[in-house]
Parts: sequence; structure tokens; C-alpha cells
Amino acid sequence: RAEVVINGSSSPAVVDRSNESIKHNIQPASAKWRHNQTLSLRIRKQILKFLDAEKDISVLKGTLKPGDIIHYIFDRDSTMNVSQNLYDLLPRTSPLKNKHFQTCAIVGNSGVLLNSGCGQEIDMHSFVIRCNLAPVQEYARDVGLKTDLVTMNPSVIQRAFEDLVNATWREKLLQRLHSLNGSILWIPAFMARGGKERVEWVNELILKHRVNVRTAYPSLRLLHAVRGYWLTNKVHIKRPTTGLLMYTLATRFCNQIYLYGFWPFPLDQNQNPVKYHYYDSLKYGYTSQASPHTMPLEFKALKSLHEQGALKLTVGQCD
Ligand code: CTP
Repeated sequence: RAEVVINGSSSPAVVDRSNESIKHNIQPASAKWRHNQTLSLRIRKQILKFLDAEKDISVLKGTLKPGDIIHYIFDRDSTMNVSQNLYDLLPRTSPLKNKHFQTCAIVGNSGVLLNSGCGQEIDMHSFVIRCNLAPVQEYARDVGLKTDLVTMNPSVIQRAFEDLVNATWREKLLQRLHSLNGSILWIPAFMARGGKERVEWVNELILKHRVNVRTAYPSLRLLHAVRGYWLTNKVHIKRPTTGLLMYTLATRFCNQIYLYGFWPFPLDQNQNPVKYHYYDSLKYGYTSQASPHTMPLEFKALKSLHEQGALKLTVGQCD
């Protein structure tokens, strides 16, 4: 049986964090890259053994009711009750039901996007996925504007919206939500206990102000299923990042997948400094042993898939 070689080795990759960017040279965007349709289909089939993006992208209304108790995925001893607001915002059918797109962009948040000029190219894809409500307006030339799905870890409310301490921050968040204008807002509400209030605040804002977004709350099994898939392919991730989750989901409904803003290294390919996020001053957390993510390891796997034509990584300027 033909295997997809993702990690390129049969043992867990040893990550030398000293000077990783040098080892990760990716051809410039203009270099010849060919989509490998056969491989993409094989990966989709393999992933379908672990999860189905159509179902796992969101818990549906029929499966929960207000008052139900949910154990957090990463804090099994802690529970939350399904609130009326959360229930009201659960979709009745999957927002990805029967969806198929010719090309999808997944936009990570690395500072490598700055001065990339990739905005136009990103906006040309049939479906554009973004992460953690990252701002677009001020960075349109480099990151584009089109947003079909955007994720929102509850921690974003603290980090980017000051935990809505006053009316100004509430208004800022509200404006950002209004700007989504009908796209899918994907909120991992059941992952870790810390996000409970933040998810409730956002739900309340959406309902109170009739914000035009299609909310989705990933299934309870998604994270373990994604991790299971990558572990089976010898990619020993601790907890998949949002970006990797999005790629794994996208294989189900995207024919070709293009990744931008994936670069978890402090230096670019020319050894110039790269910001961790293109839009804020957050520092590199992935070097800390305490970080739940193993981004450079994920990157290595994605790079290997790029080389095999299963996805296209752009880490420099767009043509
Ligand atoms: N990313 C990357 N390199 C960076 C920053 C981000 O490759 N320097 C990718 C990662 O796949 C990440 C995605 O872009 O998941 C979105 O970035 P961020 O919002 O920082 O992601 P999270 O995984 O949600 O990180 P955290 O858990 O810290 O919120």
C-alpha cells in the first residue's frame, strides 16, 4: 500500500531550535510547483478515516440542548453547561455541507506576510480561511480581505480585545464581527476551561447586535482525531495549532490548498527578523517548552507535503 511520507523519517523528528529557518528553505513563489492531485486525494481519504470536516467542523443543534454538561477536552475534570445563547447559535446543518472548492487559501498569522504583496493572490482563491480574527483592513496588500471562515480562540478576546473591559473594546470587537459579513466564525468553545466567559461574551454580542456571521463550534472529537491522524503519520505533535487544524479540515472540501503566513521562525530565509504575528508584538512562544504547540515540527510536515505537491506553501513574496 502506498504511504504518504509526511515526516520523511520513521522516528519522531528531533527539533533543533537554534537556527531552524536556514534548514527550511522553500523555493520562491514563482518556482515550479505542481499540484499532485493523486496525493491530495489519498490524503483526503486517509484523513476521512479519522474525521469528517463536514461533520466535525461544528456541533449541530440537534445534538445538544440548553443545560447539557460538557467536559472540556483538555481539562476533563472541568465542565460547562450549554447556555441558551450557545444553543441558539449552533448551526442546524453543517456550514460545509456539500461544499467543494477548487482552491483554498489558509492564512496563518506569521509576520512573514509583511511586505509579501500576497493580498491579491490570497483573495483570488475560492475559499479563504483565516485564524484568530487577525486584522485584514490595514494589511490588505499583504494578506488580502476575503474571509470565508475565520477562527477565534477564546484567548483572542483577552489578547486583542482587552477582555472587553470597556465600551471602546466592546465596540472594536463588534466592528470586527460585523466586518465578517456572513462568513463562518469558528469558535473552539469546548477545548479548555479558561475560555468560558469569553465565548459567552462573544455569543451575547452576536445575538444582541444581530451580527451577520455563521457560527460554528468544533466537535468534541475533532482535536483528538486530528492529532491521531498526524501521529499515525509520524508527526508527533502535542496539540495541533489552529493552522494545522484548518489544513486538516480543508483537505475534505478543497481541491488545492495554498498556505500563507506559516513561518514559525524568528528569521526569514534571508536571515532577516520576522515578527511572530504580522499584526501585533507577541513574541515567539513556540521556543518555550511549556507551549502546547510544536509549530516547527508541524512546519516540517507541511514543507514535506509542499515538496510532494499536496499543498503549496508561500513563505516569501507573491509574484
Ligand atoms: N503560524 C505560523 N507561524 C507563526 C505564527 C502562526 O506558522 N509565526 C500559523 C500556525 O499554524 C498558527 C496559525 O498560523 O496556528 C495562526 O496563528 P496564531 O493565531 O498565533 O495561532 P494559534 O495556533 O491559535 O496559537 P495560540 O494557540 O497561541 O493562540
